[in-house]
Amino acid sequence: MPGHRSFDRSLELYARAYELIPGGSQTNSKRPTAYAYGAFPIYAQDAEGARIQDVDGNWYVDYILGLGPITLGYCYPEVDDAIREQLGRGIIYGLLSPLEVEVAERVCEMVPCAEMVRFLKGGAEVTGAAARIARACTGREVILNNGYRGWVDGWGAQYSGPEKGVPGCLAGVIDGWDRYDLGSLEAKLQEHEGQVAMVSIDPASGGSTVPEGFHQGVRELCDRYGALLMYDEIVTGFRMAAGGGQEYFGVTPDLACFAKGAANGMPLGIVCGRAEIMRKAIDDVTISVTYGGEALSLAAGKAAMDVYRAEPVFDTIWATGERLMQGFEELGEKHGVPLHCHGYAPMSSQTIDYEDKELARDVWTLLLQEMAQRGVLLRRGGLLFITYSHGEAEVEETLHALDASLAVIAEAVDDGTVKKRLRVTDVQESFRSFT
Ligand SMILES: Cc1ncc(COP(=O)(O)O)c(C=O)c1O
Repeated sequence: MPGHRSFDRSLELYARAYELIPGGSQTNSKRPTAYAYGAFPIYAQDAEGARIQDVDGNWYVDYILGLGPITLGYCYPEVDDAIREQLGRGIIYGLLSPLEVEVAERVCEMVPCAEMVRFLKGGAEVTGAAARIARACTGREVILNNGYRGWVDGWGAQYSGPEKGVPGCLAGVIDGWDRYDLGSLEAKLQEHEGQVAMVSIDPASGGSTVPEGFHQGVRELCDRYGALLMYDEIVTGFRMAAGGGQEYFGVTPDLACFAKGAANGMPLGIVCGRAEIMRKAIDDVTISVTYGGEALSLAAGKAAMDVYRAEPVFDTIWATGERLMQGFEELGEKHGVPLHCHGYAPMSSQTIDYEDKELARDVWTLLLQEMAQRGVLLRRGGLLFITYSHGEAEVEETLHALDASLAVIAEAVDDGTVKKRLRVTDVQESFRSFT
């Protein structure tokens, strides 16, 4: 029932966190101020399937899903059984785990570019490893990158030119190009002729669909200028298809990185690629972490990959995503709210397209607030992640909640009461924008 969910315990915990944890959380996009602070749950205590429970005891259909790693659903029996079984036999050894071989075999069977595989933990680690491999392999230093690859220095040198705390000299070995503009990529390859080790891109981002022939064009340019092509499949991997965006688009890169979705929530990062590149580079460079062969994540990865191969996981995720996208568009139109969906169904994004940017931002906050009150957790702007566990009941509940929430929004926009209806609490930090 709208209006009856309270977040007292969440808010009390966050007040303590705010004094102890810089930024309040470990992940920028999980900061409560990125949602509807005061009118949205903050801390979770339980989850199952497509649903999550906050510390105040409220249950929700979840589309935030750890920001993407949950593909099968929370507490998916096959994966959790495999973790429990391995837990009884040890978490990590000084000796190697046979799971390293078994998971590597599965990755090579599923992912078109994968002939050899290394395991790390998070996305930033594997994209950093790919950059080092490409530089070592080509003897070149410049990377032409488009998009977010993780928080570490090598990538941070490119963002906001460069970020504070990142050595400025690193900006000389990384450059950008305009997404979906092959002319811009070629101009950069010419500007840095003979110096480009790698071109890196995520095969699809949430914001839009990829123009016909684009990936083929990038592949050809890389070949012409002697640069390796790396796909960051951290969002697209184990989501668009079993073999990621490269399977979906039919273009094979030289290297690829996976993390979210590799092990249904356990931290398993994968860098893989052509054997001659992987073998040569790994012989010449240091890529080594203590937790690289940690067996619980590998057990989860093996179990998740077996489900990916045995069941219609990705067809189901696509179908559920398409129903939701269609429902969002239809309900937006019904209520005269310019709510639009973009990109691909397993990971679409949403925009609210009022010309007045402040109104658009406030309406987003009101939408998050109203949906949370009706038991659905969305993320500002998407991505609307979907799992194999989002079934008919969850879709119905989501669209029902959206219908009612958009009715409130339409009325609020009409009578100019959007701000008045927000039950968000002001914290000092909420003046920063995380969208
Ligand atoms: C496309 C992409 N690459 C890399 C990363 C970094 O991954 P991680 O946060 O695990 O370091 C992210 C994180 O959201 C991502 O979306």
